[in-house]
Amino acid sequence: MCGIVGYVGRENCTDVLIDALSKLEYRGYDSAGIAVFENGKIRVEKAKGRLQNLDEKMNLEGRPFGNCGIGHTRWATHGEPSHINSHPHSGRRVTLVHNGIIENYMELKAFLEGKGYHFESQTDTETVAKLIDYYYQDDPLEALNKALPQVRGAYALAILFEGFPDRLYAVRKESPLIVGLGCGGENFVASDIPAILKYTNRYYLLEQDEVALVTAGQVVVTDLAGNPIEKQEQVADWDIDAAEKGGFAHFMLKEIHEQPKAFRNTISPRIRDGAIQFENGLDDVLRAAKRLHVVACGTAMHAGIVGKYLIESLARVPVDVDLASEFRYRNPILEKEDLAVIISQSGETADTLAALRLAKSQGIRTLAIVNVVGSSIAREADYVLYTWAGPEIAVASTKAYTVQLAVMYLLAFQLGRLRGQLDEAAYANYLTELMQTPEKIEKLLSQSGAIANLAVDYREAQNMFFIGRGLDYALSQEGSLKLKEISYIYSEAYAAGELKHGTISLIVEGIPVVALATQRDLLEKMISNVREVRARGAKVLLFCFEGTQVSADLANHVIYLPQGSDLFAPLLSIVPLQLFAYHIAEQRGCDVDKPRNLAKSVTVE
Ligand code: M6R
Repeated sequence: MCGIVGYVGRENCTDVLIDALSKLEYRGYDSAGIAVFENGKIRVEKAKGRLQNLDEKMNLEGRPFGNCGIGHTRWATHGEPSHINSHPHSGRRVTLVHNGIIENYMELKAFLEGKGYHFESQTDTETVAKLIDYYYQDDPLEALNKALPQVRGAYALAILFEGFPDRLYAVRKESPLIVGLGCGGENFVASDIPAILKYTNRYYLLEQDEVALVTAGQVVVTDLAGNPIEKQEQVADWDIDAAEKGGFAHFMLKEIHEQPKAFRNTISPRIRDGAIQFENGLDDVLRAAKRLHVVACGTAMHAGIVGKYLIESLARVPVDVDLASEFRYRNPILEKEDLAVIISQSGETADTLAALRLAKSQGIRTLAIVNVVGSSIAREADYVLYTWAGPEIAVASTKAYTVQLAVMYLLAFQLGRLRGQLDEAAYANYLTELMQTPEKIEKLLSQSGAIANLAVDYREAQNMFFIGRGLDYALSQEGSLKLKEISYIYSEAYAAGELKHGTISLIVEGIPVVALATQRDLLEKMISNVREVRARGAKVLLFCFEGTQVSADLANHVIYLPQGSDLFAPLLSIVPLQLFAYHIAEQRGCDVDKPRNLAKSVTVE
């Protein structure tokens, strides 16, 4: 999704803006631009494609020089990726960058055309720039106060006003925006913490319709009417190394390898004296909940599916799992004693946030499982369980998924215990095995080279299937998503028992089938399903626990998981599945960290 940065200070802001934008590249974008006050005038530079194109263009044409400016990476929504549609956009004396979507932009455009404005781009953003410009006499805040109430939709804006070359303005509604507090003589604006982490880890989170006036020496936050607002300084505990590749070829590979640490960080603080200790009195809520509604998107939703299998089987509490984009519009039945469990790495996904608000508006309690501290979902939910994965930069989610699973296990064990479904011994055994998981993940990570070799045999595939039963089926959905999103191989996850109800017609000679067979009580049935696809010529990559008897003709390749109980298999199988997807994509020459058309944080519907 789009990224915003802003800088005012002593440095040449062109360099700072480009550097800060480079830290947001992971979010996904298709053009970039900056606006800088140069000799009191706003100079705009833009380029389609990578940030590097903009940098090279400015090197050829002469880099803007100034101490105050804004920058943007655009992920196209209204209008194709092009020079003209790139941000910044301008009115006569106002230039801005925007994240979000303006819903009534056609209406605003007609109004402004009636006032003599001419539009260059197809974007919704240009209407906001011109609307603010229309109201801008000599007072920026007054212009914002008149213009923004007319704007419907979501926006985070960083704005330059001619006449004020030493300040920038930031304002937001729905889309996130922070103001970075520099160490004397400089300040920043950004849509995401990694953009400014090199310069400062102190920041203000802007709330709805708060306006920040940012100069080199100070930051003043007010409401639109100019009433001062006292802000609480936040400190990000992500260090700068977390946003660097640290010797790995890609962020995705680095993040796969960070999973043992992320897992420990997420579970260890919550297991004390042999029991799970959730923060904020969550136990009472868990005890009371009659039904759980897990709502999320993409990978986070897949974590919810595994959670459903765990919670229903261990705690006997019914769990519905919904895609947030469906949940919010399908008029779900929510009862007073239900608990909505909202899962999101970024904490900013537009549909997930809307689902949370829907649940709250219907009076049910909400628990957010979120990675980004202070994100919108974390702030708005009644209860939060943070996952401690650290920043996830690669678009394809890996470590964030594993720690979401970790929290699902904790929830299942705790619910099971609180509901009297798990006795003390079973509870203690589960916790012991959970705490042993990071070591097993480390063991699996050491197989990365072997999986890279194996990937050679699968990388030419055009289609692939992932099959499994029970928890294996739940997990296979994430394995399949990982492969398709980064390698562009079409893949589908199927419940193994469902194949012969239609899809088996697609199984032909040579088609790869990744078969997860870790659930021992379903093993015989699963092996029969594998034989069915083998009989039709499928090339099978089988996953099972060490010690499973596999006859030589059952699979072309086998990945063995370190011994453990069936229940924990998803936490192990996911690692080779991620590595498999990674190595295939890398060998196919794909842009692993920034797959086409995708964005890290999906802040539009
Ligand atoms: O930030 P969120 O967890 O709310 O994001 C939801 C999905 O967009 C996300 O999980 C997406 O499916 C993954 N990045 C894919 O790897």
